[in-house]
Amino acid sequence: MYSKNMPTGFAKDFLWGGATAANQIEGAWNEDGKGLTTAEVVKKAATHHDLSMNTVSQESIAEAIADKTDEMYPKRRGIDFYHHYQEDIKLFAEMGFKAFRISIAWARIFPKGDEKEPNAAGLEFYDKVFSECHKYGIEPVVTISHYEMPLNLTLKQNGWASRQTIDNFTHYTETLFQHYKGVVKYWMTFNEINAITGGFTGTGAVDNELNLEQKAQLRFQALHHQFVASALAVQQCHAIDPNAKIGCMLARAQNYPKTPNPKDVRAAQLQDQLNLFYTDVQVRGEYPEYMNRYFQENGVALQMQADDEQIIKNGTVDYLAFSYYMSSITSTDSKPEKFADSFMAGEKNPYLETSDWGWQIDPIGLRISLNEMWDRYRVPLFVVENGLGAEDKLTDDYQVHDSYRIDYLRQHIQQMKEAVKDGVQLMGYLTWGPIDLISASTSEMSKRYGFIYVDQDDAGQGTLKRYKKDSFDWYKKVIASNGEELD
Ligand code: BG6
Repeated sequence: MYSKNMPTGFAKDFLWGGATAANQIEGAWNEDGKGLTTAEVVKKAATHHDLSMNTVSQESIAEAIADKTDEMYPKRRGIDFYHHYQEDIKLFAEMGFKAFRISIAWARIFPKGDEKEPNAAGLEFYDKVFSECHKYGIEPVVTISHYEMPLNLTLKQNGWASRQTIDNFTHYTETLFQHYKGVVKYWMTFNEINAITGGFTGTGAVDNELNLEQKAQLRFQALHHQFVASALAVQQCHAIDPNAKIGCMLARAQNYPKTPNPKDVRAAQLQDQLNLFYTDVQVRGEYPEYMNRYFQENGVALQMQADDEQIIKNGTVDYLAFSYYMSSITSTDSKPEKFADSFMAGEKNPYLETSDWGWQIDPIGLRISLNEMWDRYRVPLFVVENGLGAEDKLTDDYQVHDSYRIDYLRQHIQQMKEAVKDGVQLMGYLTWGPIDLISASTSEMSKRYGFIYVDQDDAGQGTLKRYKKDSFDWYKKVIASNGEELD
């Protein structure tokens, strides 16, 4: 009889912690030689549902460059982590974090993106952050590119639309691997690489005047450049620091057919392929056949150089990291996923509740996704973002009773544990925004994810003081018990 013990819970060295991004926390946008980034020219949204982050034009950039304030551009101020990092990391340590995900702002290291010599002050800032983490036994998990790049590369060569950006990027990545050798064990190349099909935030390319087909051409070409750049970075990383691990990062959108009608099932399958295509390339090392068909049918003709395919093959990742927030459903009536403006396009699922921002909450979807991705790729998986964006209320005695956040996280951790028992190899779990930060999609401060409340409002007013929410002690207990105590 075949019998093998199933895992009973999370691995002993499971990486519990939280995740952030430079442009959402650091602030200090014009200090110590840092250059202006693409994230810092995107205006804040007018409402919760205004997803204007990608509608950037030459005119709006010129207006942003002329504006020397952070009033309309909250990503310039973040939560001032640049000057609060010691206090913040200490709080993470108090929760027992094993890992802390940050991203490096390329424009801190190379302010214009194309210099030969790095900005020493930029490297030094992250030296300090990493050594602060290590002081508490926290492993830094570092994203090399998280939704931003030096604005100069947009102005000069339209960001990732240009092949030249690959060279600029590999100079940047080589600098990082050399400088942080032995200091950073876990790297990731591009945050949510699939968001590139949504435009500026991923591509750093202005394409607002193009029609849909032209946009598809530009964005998939930009993506190809990122695939090559990512594969080259993987090779550099392995050569420079063989002890480090480097992964890709996907925004996973679990997707279901709306009905058992095979037409809907097929529509959902295509939707899923359009989500997993990125990891097919980065984990398996080649473009899947179904994408060749998709490109042909959608008028996309990728320009590749002779050795691109080999580079991609030789640059497969060590692990697959992903964000998971929600699921969606697809039917033949759904907005055709021909060319998604939002990778989260889909219909309302009547069985699920939604967050205040309309994101469909689906913990079981996380277990399904983990199983599907493990079956498909057989590389370690790493949940590097999950969480609930909500409007929290600070009471008069400085408490935040965020039981809704605890419920959300508990249910996801429970399902994650089920997936581990199913046999999925899982490296860790990093909640998004362990400290409140600026929202990526709307630049709001009021969309809060943290265990730690930051006193700052959407207009940037507040003391910036940090307060522990109820979820702070809860997460501390979860980590101390390695995910056993979830109540
Ligand atoms: C992910 C991004 O898409 O979702 C983060 O990697 C982002 O940068 C997070 O902050 C949550 O999205 P939002 O729009 O609520 O900040």
